[in-house]
Amino acid sequence: MRALVYHGPGRKAWERVPEPEITDDGDAIVRVDTTTICATDLHILRGDVPAVAAGRVLGHEAVGTVDEVGDGVRRLRPGDRVLVSCISACGTCRFCREGRYGQCLGGGGWVLGHRIDGTQADYVRVPFADTATYRVPGSLTDEEALMLADVLPTGYEVGVLAGGVGPGDVVAVVGAGPVGLSAICAAQLYSPGHVVAIDRSDTRLEAAKQFGADVVVSNSRENPLAVVKDLTGGLGADVAIEAVGLPAPFELAVSLARPGGRIASVGMHGQAAALHLEEQWTRDITITTGLVDTSSTPILMRLITTGQINASRLVTHRFRLDDFDDAYDVLARVADTGALKVVLSRLGE
Ligand SMILES: NC(=O)c1ccc[n+]([C@@H]2O[C@H](COP(=O)([O-])OP(=O)(O)OC[C@H]3O[C@@H](n4cnc5c(N)ncnc54)[C@H](O)[C@@H]3O)[C@@H](O)[C@H]2O)c1
Ligand SMILES: [Zn+2]
Ligand SMILES: [Zn+2]
Repeated sequence: MRALVYHGPGRKAWERVPEPEITDDGDAIVRVDTTTICATDLHILRGDVPAVAAGRVLGHEAVGTVDEVGDGVRRLRPGDRVLVSCISACGTCRFCREGRYGQCLGGGGWVLGHRIDGTQADYVRVPFADTATYRVPGSLTDEEALMLADVLPTGYEVGVLAGGVGPGDVVAVVGAGPVGLSAICAAQLYSPGHVVAIDRSDTRLEAAKQFGADVVVSNSRENPLAVVKDLTGGLGADVAIEAVGLPAPFELAVSLARPGGRIASVGMHGQAAALHLEEQWTRDITITTGLVDTSSTPILMRLITTGQINASRLVTHRFRLDDFDDAYDVLARVADTGALKVVLSRLGE
């Protein structure tokens, strides 16, 4: 089969590899019909994720068709159309029992395109297939379902829920990529007072308005701290969400929060970021970090079905499954292309 293989920092190739086989009775083999590229894949290609070894097939998001199931798989049959989530769960370890699937100790968590071969391929082996997949209702398109594999649960769980967004809150979101936009969109579910999107890219700020931000700030031209202070009588944001994965945006998010405020760091960090305790120790702030659990996937799926979340507008570019070079290139040039999520599909091949 064909797959996108990571060959060390800066190097990847779409090439022939052996088809995956069932190695555990909880596995399923899924034919990938639609997949996408995450900013995390770009971090991997920059060498930020040393656990990803050369030779690994990239990708942790897919919608596909079940091809084969192990003897222990109960919920799936060949032919089922499923969402393959970025997180799987053994279901029985201490953390799975708490719904913290991202922290699974039993071989689940974020494994696809990380510790085992991923979804940017014709076929993928999905461990713990009963928990890592969701049957896609007929009312959802493949593209809508695909947004549930990672970005929507990430923005909702690691941003909005971890940050404790509540009615009337002023929410500042640093970084308006697909994850930040998902947080902006999900924050609307809690009737915030204002949602302030902060990004250096004007195309991303345009997108933020479409997703529900009522104030947008270009931090290459304006001072976001002054804007947020103006909006809050000098106090700062109730919740600041960092969705970039670089030191400066994290430090900005901390400075934007009011005393007693909450900072939810969502970005994947490959470098150290400073926490200025000499400024913060008196301010009663709470900082959260986290890998997504995807425990909210069923709720978000219902919200897409009922039209309360518009998932398809995250998709800006479409490619054939063998067109990864162009798809990665479009993401590398987002300032010019305005890309949010790129989708690669078997359809039309
Ligand atoms: N915690 C998790 O489980 C999880 C899951 C998925 C993705 N992530 C991470 O979330 C982050 C965001 O993902 P994404 O797909 O939205 O990424 P993205 O790269 O598409 O978006 C990041 C945005 O940040 C903006 N930005 C960059 N530097 C900035 C600065 N100094 N100030 C303000 N804005 C700045 C960029 O213009 C861009 O719009 C990534 O680090 C990704 O790896 C984390
Ligand atoms: Zn991801
Ligand atoms: Zn577990």
